[in-house]
Amino acid sequence: MFSRLSHVALAVPSIEAAAARLEQVYGLRVTERHENPEQGVRMAYVDLGGETRMELIEPLHAESPLARYLERHPQGGLHHLSFATPGLDEAAEALAGSGVRPVSPPQARNVHGERIAFLHPRDFLGVLVELEERGTDHE
Ligand code: CO
Repeated sequence: MFSRLSHVALAVPSIEAAAARLEQVYGLRVTERHENPEQGVRMAYVDLGGETRMELIEPLHAESPLARYLERHPQGGLHHLSFATPGLDEAAEALAGSGVRPVSPPQARNVHGERIAFLHPRDFLGVLVELEERGTDHE
């Protein structure tokens, strides 16, 4: 169903502050930045080697769902795991058969144009999961 871990997403109050800390203390470099007004977030990516990345997400405005997350976790924290999922529709269908329903139908797209779907944390050991329609090849 999932081919590999695509990224681990951390909610942060400030991408600039997070990027500076990751670079200065850990030698990790932010390689890519985007804004996704539809989801109310600004995001940045850190390559971790191989095909796995870390995603930093910061709310664009106070009404962003992410802003509510940061109210509960002011320092930031683990927000979601993202799995590359080659057949998103088939996976969603199989999961629905097990009683797992995506938070939203798989119509949303990420900043890379891939279709994504989120699974409710209660259906995945308490952690929000993102499925990204992406093959096993690095793009
Ligand atoms: Co993500």
